[in-house]
Amino acid sequence: MLVHLVLERLSRQVLPRVPEPVMDNLSQTEAFAMAGREDGILAFIYLYQALQITPLVRNGDRVLDLGCGPANQLVQIARLNPDAHFMGLDASAEMLDRASETIRRCKVENIELTAGDMTALAEIADASIDCVISTMSLHHLPDLAALSDTMREARRVLKPGGGLYFVDFGRFKRTGTQRFFAEDRRDCQPEKFTRDYFNSMRAAFSLAELSQAAALLGPGVIRHSTPLAPFMVILKGGARRELDDKTRQSAHGLYRRMTAAQQKDFRLYARWLRAGGLGLPFALD
Ligand SMILES: C[S@@+](CC[C@H](N)C(=O)[O-])C[C@H]1O[C@@H](n2cnc3c(N)ncnc32)[C@H](O)[C@@H]1O
Repeated sequence: MLVHLVLERLSRQVLPRVPEPVMDNLSQTEAFAMAGREDGILAFIYLYQALQITPLVRNGDRVLDLGCGPANQLVQIARLNPDAHFMGLDASAEMLDRASETIRRCKVENIELTAGDMTALAEIADASIDCVISTMSLHHLPDLAALSDTMREARRVLKPGGGLYFVDFGRFKRTGTQRFFAEDRRDCQPEKFTRDYFNSMRAAFSLAELSQAAALLGPGVIRHSTPLAPFMVILKGGARRELDDKTRQSAHGLYRRMTAAQQKDFRLYARWLRAGGLGLPFALD
């Protein structure tokens, strides 16, 4: 890995973006949905994002998730915040079917789903949402204009003083690095997932593009980007509540239920994000 990261650092190349369409292919959505289950390769990332998002959510809040996909991530967040109401929005009917399955399987009652396009939230009134989130979905947008539209829409629907958390990876400079990261865990993930992951990395916006678009969210935007491998968390406003003991215990429970390997990945990921200036709201171990 180190070799790739050094080459990446030294490279003067700038790879063009190769957009990735909305995920509506059956085997594609299935591979992604499986990767996000409790025993899946993405589970530790989902717990991490859920912990970061939870302090932004208050009881009774309406939270909008842009590009909720199969809702594995959203379920984690909804479980940690049982007194808030979540709306998962996605442009893919196939993904929304997966999301319904996940919500049913996990018996979560505070999530509703809606079909929609995050670049044009026509059905959602101005200043009607307490918190807007989006995890690993921005790279699916076709171009910079769509990315900008998404930021403008998020700003429009968000209440003054509301919370916002967007996260996505940035584009590597070298195809070799993209391939290395896509294939790093190929033994424990379906081939389809490896291919899609590679395509997602090719579709990622650069950190500069994400940063520029984030400025459209208005005042109070904070950007955290990671060293070496490009990744960005965009926040607006800080914590909106103190985490109570019950929430902390639930989070500890979710962490304890992960395998030792998942916990190790979680700790590495948290360390990497900390290097980008984003600490966890509380320690889990
Ligand atoms: C990689 S998945 C991420 C899902 C989920 N947020 C997660 O973290 O697991 C990206 C999702 O964004 C959805 N998507 C892509 N473009 C969209 C758009 N313009 N509006 C709404 N959803 C979109 C895709 O259908 C897909 O379900």
